[in-house]
Amino acid sequence: MIKGIIFDLDGVITSTDELHYEAWQALALKLGITNFTKEDNLRQRGVSRLESLEVVLEKTTNKYSAEEKIALADYKNEIYKKLLEKMDSSYLSKEVKETLEELKKQGYKLAIGSSSKNTKTILNKIGLGNFFDAISDGNNITKSKPDPEVFIKAAEMLNLNPSNCLVIEDANSGIDAANSGNFISVGIGPASNYLKAKIKIKSFKDILNIVNE
Ligand code: BG6
Ligand code: MG
Repeated sequence: MIKGIIFDLDGVITSTDELHYEAWQALALKLGITNFTKEDNLRQRGVSRLESLEVVLEKTTNKYSAEEKIALADYKNEIYKKLLEKMDSSYLSKEVKETLEELKKQGYKLAIGSSSKNTKTILNKIGLGNFFDAISDGNNITKSKPDPEVFIKAAEMLNLNPSNCLVIEDANSGIDAANSGNFISVGIGPASNYLKAKIKIKSFKDILNIVNE
């Protein structure tokens, strides 16, 4: 029985992935890396900022210390935060907004489960700052997806068992995290082609079909 729904943020609720890509691309160019691609960027989905940095650094033979890596990740985040400033309610699609409102109306508990430390800024920007019953994000976890920690914390905040929660994810790492935490994984976007997603959907509003089945 489904009682709650945990949503990934980037690439599910809103399209920040392009902004992440632009910021990583800027860092790559600063490091002299000219072959950082969208395919590389796809592997950054769901994983933490420092793990995402490693995907960029695979493209160079230069070696960086732990301190230097933190500085590089900070550099990227400063660019990303500048890009986030232009976000507004137009970054929340009508389909996502109406589906979320309908799910809330039907009595489901709704949470965010995101690796991002910028989650609250983004939710405020798109007008969902006070919408969710719980927010579990990059600030309250020690292990990033594919570890299930972020979703387990979200389920705890909702006071629900993982088996009673859907997890909506666009990243393969997020589907793996949901499965290993015993959640019902739902793949959307790139993850709708991922074999391990228990349910695959084409469009956000399809969540209504799952819960009403
Ligand atoms: C995830 C994104 O939601 O958050 C990843 O899919 C990103 O690509 C991660 O690296 C961390 O985000 P942030 O905003 O804390 O740098
Ligand atoms: Mg995502």
